Amino acid sequence: MKTKKLYQLSYLFILLITTIANGQIYGRNGMVVSSSEIASEVGVDILEKGGNAIDASVATAFVLAVTHPSAGNIGGGGFLVFMDASGNATTIDFREKAPLASSPTLFLDGAGNLPEGKNLYGMESTANHIGAKSVGVPGTVAGMYMAHQKYGLLPWADLVQPAIDIATNGFPLTYSLYEAETFFSANSPIPFLQEYFKKDNGDFTEFGELWKQPELAQTLIEIRDYGQDGFYKGKVAKEIVRYMKEKGGIITMDDLKKYNAVERNPIKGTFNGYDIYSMPPPSSGGVALVEMMNLMELADLKTIEFNSTEYVHLVAEVMRRAFADRAEFMGDADFNENLPLDKLTSKAFANKRFENIDMTKASVSDSTKFGQLYDGSSTTHFSVADAQGNAVSVTYTLEHSYGSGMGSKKLGFIFNNEMGDFNPIPGVTTTDGLIGTDPNLIQPEKRMLSSMTPTIVAKDGKPYLIIGSPGGRTIINTVFQTVLNVLAYDMRVDKAIEAMKIHHQWLPNTIEYENGLLSPDTIKNLQAMGHTLEATNVLGELMGIQIDTENKILIGASDSSSPDGAAVGY
Ligand code: GLY
Repeated sequence: MKTKKLYQLSYLFILLITTIANGQIYGRNGMVVSSSEIASEVGVDILEKGGNAIDASVATAFVLAVTHPSAGNIGGGGFLVFMDASGNATTIDFREKAPLASSPTLFLDGAGNLPEGKNLYGMESTANHIGAKSVGVPGTVAGMYMAHQKYGLLPWADLVQPAIDIATNGFPLTYSLYEAETFFSANSPIPFLQEYFKKDNGDFTEFGELWKQPELAQTLIEIRDYGQDGFYKGKVAKEIVRYMKEKGGIITMDDLKKYNAVERNPIKGTFNGYDIYSMPPPSSGGVALVEMMNLMELADLKTIEFNSTEYVHLVAEVMRRAFADRAEFMGDADFNENLPLDKLTSKAFANKRFENIDMTKASVSDSTKFGQLYDGSSTTHFSVADAQGNAVSVTYTLEHSYGSGMGSKKLGFIFNNEMGDFNPIPGVTTTDGLIGTDPNLIQPEKRMLSSMTPTIVAKDGKPYLIIGSPGGRTIINTVFQTVLNVLAYDMRVDKAIEAMKIHHQWLPNTIEYENGLLSPDTIKNLQAMGHTLEATNVLGELMGIQIDTENKILIGASDSSSPDGAAVGY
């Protein structure tokens, strides 16, 4: 009942404290923007109780694991960027790790091929994304625990409790979750997922009916009572290992005990006087974002109209170059001593890279060198700002939407399939997808390369824009274009998020564009320049906060592509 009361009170209060106007929410004291309205409300509730942006982030992350289970998680991993009110920035890496028993050829058969099978959707997929071996050692609980231990104010238990209450008492099943229930019960080959949303008696949870997750609540209680150890040691850990063994996985008690989140220095860049802070490896997001912003700084954007042929061509060429460099160089820095991070993010490198952009014709993606995999599109991002001026940007994921789809009924949560983000066949690179370069080959305890790009932009040394998105490899580009829209094209955050986007990732050599973005003339012009174009429905599900630093007003915006998302402020 506590949960219900919380919602009722929150709803009343939120009506009083937020201003809703055309997709953006204004606040003075705090703001949380996430893919679940309930999670955003809980985050704001924590701020109102005296928690800071880190406390609100921890609570929001645990609630998303209950209310947004396609990507919100305790069975996956991700990244957190934190900037305090004085502009000091740091990051926490809680990316999953490869198990100790893994190797570069983990997914290959005797003939060195990558076999295929049915994934959680009942569709053909390669082995590195299917089954218990696709599960990386989860990092979310360790990441949240580290963030709280280092920077939180409120007691840990108070931050986990809202998720326990919601899992115990249930919340009204949203339409998007109801659709998932209907789909998985009919199509998924995975028993856990077929039953995931159903009641204990096997009946469907109907749209709008309370969906309760008592087993997940029990797991969260262990985490509440024992912190990180409640997940990585003790009975939850034992059940994870038992389940993995039963399903042919390789995660052991040692893997769980050895898992550690890591605090790392952010990747830093500048753009026309703004400072950009984003995620370092094992994410490629920060490096690619800064490289692209450096390249855009060299263009005379005042003369390049937004969405014109010239604009789309330039943005696509910039993306092509950053993604080629990503393919060649990026991997876990803990396993690759000489990643050229300083070089890739330097203005001098951008100058050189910019030189061979021809504004009259498309360049060629050199397919004899490297290729790119599309990676999973389900991840989730949330942005948080507090009254003291602290800012947090978190992106975390299960890799595919609903991850591996596997889970122990006793534990009630879904495991990731993040091992699919490693390069699966050493040395084998193809134009249509595979990449086989060394930096991102599987090794025990290595973290797989990510595209997640949680970012904070500072103006005059203070947080100004908190932004991020899900979307696999498209994350880098949707965050890039949103930041560019705000910093170069003076769009307010909600407009910048809604403005339609393109995606180019070097290989395949195609510009994807959101349907309706480009006029027939622009498409013809781009084709005449040598570009291949392909329409797509949606790119990105951005969750952002812009701070009017002069008036100390927070502007929150949740992408309209998010079915259950909301900005909540006060
Ligand atoms: N699994 C998607 C990413 O990490 O980029």
